[in-house]
Amino acid sequence: MAKLSNRWSSITVLLLLLRNIVIARPYDRQSDGLTLRKTPSDNYLRVAGGAGEGSSFKVALFADLHFGENAWTDWGPRQDMNSIKVMSTILDSENPDFVVYLGDVITANNLPIHNASFYWNQAISPTRERNIPWASLFGNHDDAPFEWPIDWFSSSRIPQIQCPSNCSEGDECSFKGTSRLELMRNEIEHNSLSYTGFGPQNLWPSVSNYVLTLLSPKTDHKSPLMFMYFLDSGGGSYPEVISNIQSEWFRNKSHEVNPDSSIPEIVFWHIPSKAYEKVAKKVAGRRRRTQCVGSMFKEKVAAQEAEMGMMKLLTERPSVKAVFVGHNHGLDWCCPYEKMWLCYARHTGYGGYGSWDRGARILEVSGEPFTLKSWIRMENGTLHSEVVLSR
Ligand SMILES: *[C@@H]1O[C@H](CO)[C@@H](O)[C@H](O)[C@H]1NC(C)=O
Ligand SMILES: *[C@@H]1O[C@H](CO)[C@@H](O)[C@H](O)[C@H]1NC(C)=O
Ligand SMILES: *[C@@H]1O[C@H](CO)[C@@H](O)[C@H](O)[C@H]1NC(C)=O
Ligand SMILES: *[C@@H]1O[C@H](CO)[C@@H](O)[C@H](O)[C@H]1NC(C)=O
Repeated sequence: MAKLSNRWSSITVLLLLLRNIVIARPYDRQSDGLTLRKTPSDNYLRVAGGAGEGSSFKVALFADLHFGENAWTDWGPRQDMNSIKVMSTILDSENPDFVVYLGDVITANNLPIHNASFYWNQAISPTRERNIPWASLFGNHDDAPFEWPIDWFSSSRIPQIQCPSNCSEGDECSFKGTSRLELMRNEIEHNSLSYTGFGPQNLWPSVSNYVLTLLSPKTDHKSPLMFMYFLDSGGGSYPEVISNIQSEWFRNKSHEVNPDSSIPEIVFWHIPSKAYEKVAKKVAGRRRRTQCVGSMFKEKVAAQEAEMGMMKLLTERPSVKAVFVGHNHGLDWCCPYEKMWLCYARHTGYGGYGSWDRGARILEVSGEPFTLKSWIRMENGTLHSEVVLSR
């Protein structure tokens, strides 16, 4: 085990070095007169381009794309093409400065190729092609073990699969999937536009626990406008929880970067916490319905297995404005909870269950005064469920 973690740490060091070399060439992205700058050796996003007035930073959330699902049928690849169309349409109409891939990027449990990064790569391609930076986090389907679907046992359906050449039977031929760390490594290593982080090694195999800082357009200094936290809510090869140690990491990190909780913060993970269930009960009872903003209330909340302290930490921080999750394809609401908002994204992919129309939640952040607005942009261009989340 020690050997393994040594190897991982040297790989990480190497990657960090590599990443810094890539990042050492900051780039500018021109959009509506704003410039997004990636500064060297840290994870800062800057909304620059002069006056604070009128500057904003727009984020598109792509949730539950499920690339690679049923890849051995006609249906699967067609869904993936449709998902690319949804993302392309939304990117072209909203022209966001940043994209968040909110988990279940792929359906890894039945990928008939050895390397799930192939599909992951397809999923990020519309964003990369438009030169828009992004960050991703893990969902419960992203590294699930391979399962043979029962209908593959009728011989005509058995797909062409690639085995390691010297493999006879057993694990290597069972396509146990690409691990969280391998998927992250592939994304980060091959994409200078990716802001995704492995997260600290003491949280592994839980990955994608990291924080990004959005800098205020006002000053040349590193004056933060907002922090964005990303967490791995488990699933797949790992329990569906945000663990104690992840909560502790969040507590440490938030105290480090925002000690007096004065700068607004938002949080992303994939599987709703149990607090979403509480809120939804009130929605069902319609007491809160009027305070919730959304267009779909079609499912029960499928929450994490346990609550291990994360929500308590969030409610104790007045700076936390909202949490954003995916996972439930039939829900797209934002509801108030304590002093923050609990929000769903909107099912973006044609993969995964449910045939509700596809779309994406959009966030728009501006400073002076700090404002966080959100709405849902549909594939057909319509816009709904606009809500102000900063209060
Ligand atoms: C997996 O895919 C990544 C990126 O697409 C590639 O760089 C890597 O070499 C692949 N690994 C294997 C074992 O095929
Ligand atoms: C099979 O391939 C693996 C990985 O390439 C290698 O480590 C292993 O020694 C090979 N086994 C045999 C029996 O050739
Ligand atoms: C949090 O900080 C404490 C005190 O510095 C440290 O002992 C602990 O290891 C940290 N925990 C995590 C998960 O980073
Ligand atoms: C677009 O989609 C929305 C939401 O799914 C639907 O209500 C609306 O009727 C559609 N509009 C058009 C013009 O198709």
